[in-house]
Amino acid sequence: MAKSKTIFICQNCGAQSPKWIGKCNSCNSWNTYQEEIVASKPTTSISQHYSQSPISLSSIQHEHTNRILSGIGELDSVIGGGFVPGSVLLLGGEPGVGKSTLLLQVAIASGKKVLYVSGEESPQQIALRAKRLDIQSEACSILNEMNVIAILEYAKKLTPELLIVDSVQTLKHLDIESAPGTVTQIRETSNMLIEYAKQTHTPLLLIGHITKEGTLAGPKVLEHMVDVVLQFEGDMHNVFRILRSSKNRFGSTAEIGIFEMLHAGLREVANPSEALISKNKDVLSGVTIAAVMEGMRPLFIEVQALVSTAAYGTPQRTVTGYDARRVSMLLAVIEKRLGIKVYTKDVFINITGGIKIQDTATDLAIITAIVSSLFDIPISPTICFCGEIGLTGEIRSVSHIERRIKEAKKIGIPTVYSPLNQHTHSKNNTAFSRIDEVCKNLFNSKKDSKN
Ligand code: TYD
Ligand code: MG
Repeated sequence: MAKSKTIFICQNCGAQSPKWIGKCNSCNSWNTYQEEIVASKPTTSISQHYSQSPISLSSIQHEHTNRILSGIGELDSVIGGGFVPGSVLLLGGEPGVGKSTLLLQVAIASGKKVLYVSGEESPQQIALRAKRLDIQSEACSILNEMNVIAILEYAKKLTPELLIVDSVQTLKHLDIESAPGTVTQIRETSNMLIEYAKQTHTPLLLIGHITKEGTLAGPKVLEHMVDVVLQFEGDMHNVFRILRSSKNRFGSTAEIGIFEMLHAGLREVANPSEALISKNKDVLSGVTIAAVMEGMRPLFIEVQALVSTAAYGTPQRTVTGYDARRVSMLLAVIEKRLGIKVYTKDVFINITGGIKIQDTATDLAIITAIVSSLFDIPISPTICFCGEIGLTGEIRSVSHIERRIKEAKKIGIPTVYSPLNQHTHSKNNTAFSRIDEVCKNLFNSKKDSKN
C-alpha cells in the first residue's frame, strides 16, 4: 500500500513547506502552518480532458447581458446589477453576522429554481428560519450535504438556476484525507463546484467564514478562484450591516449595501444617514457628525468621543469603528498643533451604529469631537464635518465634496465644515485650511465665556 505523504500548508495563503515553520515566508502570517495529507493519486476533476482551441475576441458571444436579479435591491447594486450566469460569488463574514439569512432571502426573493446546500444546518433549522423570515418558496430545495460529489450529483439532477453553498468550510471530498476547512479541501471542493457553475452557466454563491484576524479562512486561495468577493460586516450587538465588495470581475467595487437585522430578517435601509444619527434633543459635548463616503454613497455618521483624566499610569485609547492608529496620529496632531495636552488623558472613540468607517475624511469630525469632550463644549447638530487631517494640522481635500454637501442639505444639516482648498459652489459652506482655525471658530468664544 502506498504510504500517504504529509505536507505543511499555510492556512492563510496556501503556501507549502515540507516541514513546520512558525512564520509563513509568503504572507508573513504567524502560526498558520498545518499538516495536511496529500493525495497519493491526483483527484479526478470533471473536465480534466477538455481542451479548447483559441477563438478571436470579437467572435465571442457575450453571455453577461442576462443577469439574474437576486430580488434584493441593495445586493444587486453592490454586485453591479444581478448575478452573471456562471459566475461565482464568495460571501464572507464573521459568524452570526447574517450570511445564511441573506442568502436564504436571496434564494426566495430571486423567484428562481434554487438549490440551497447547507453543511451547517439541518433542513428543519433552515425551514424554521424561513418561517421566522415569513418567506416560502416551492422552487427552493434544501439539501443537507457536505460531500461535494453528492452535491454535484443532486445539482445535475435538479438543474437549479442558482446554487447556494453554506459554507465552503464544511465541504469535503472523500478522496482527500485532510479535514474539512483545510486549504486542500477548500481548494479542491470549491474548484469542482466552480467548474460545474462555469459549464452549466449557473451562478454559484459560496459562504465563507472569516477568521479572528478578519480574513477569510483558507482565503487567498479562494479569492483568486472566484469572480466576486463580498464582505458582510457589522457589530453583532447592533442592527446595521454593511455589504461591501472587495473584488468584482463584472462591475465596480465602489457600491455598498446597508441592511438592518430585524426580527424578521434583513431589511434594506432606504435612508441610512437618518438612521445613523441620533435624534437626541439634548446637545452633548463630544458628539459630532461626519459626512463620509462609503463607496459611492454619502453617509452621515455620529462620532462620539470621551476624554477623561487617566486613572492609571498609561492612558487608555479605545477606538470602535475607525482605525485606532489613525486616532493616535490625530491625538499627536492635537498635542502638537493645537497645543492641547492629551497625553495624560484616557480617550474613547466610538462610531455609532456599529459600523466600521474607512474614509479618512472622518478625521475632522474625530478631532472636533475629542476637543469638544475635552473642553466640555457641545457642537451644534446643525454642523457636520468632512476633511482629512495631515501631520502638520492642515485640512486636506476629500473626494466628492459636492455630493457630501448636497446630501447634508437634504437631510437637514445646513453647515458643512470642509477643506478650504476645495472648489465648492455652496454658499453655506464653512471652509478652513487648518485645524487650529476650525477649533478657534468652534470653541474659542465659548471657552472664554465658560472660564
Ligand atoms: P445567520 O444568518 O445565522 O448568521 P451567519 O450565517 O453569518 O452565521 O444569522 C444569525 C444571527 O442573526 C442570529 O444571531 C440572530 C440574527 N437574526 C435576527 O436577528 N433576525 C432574523 O430574522 C434571523 C433569521 C436572524
Ligand atoms: Mg450561517
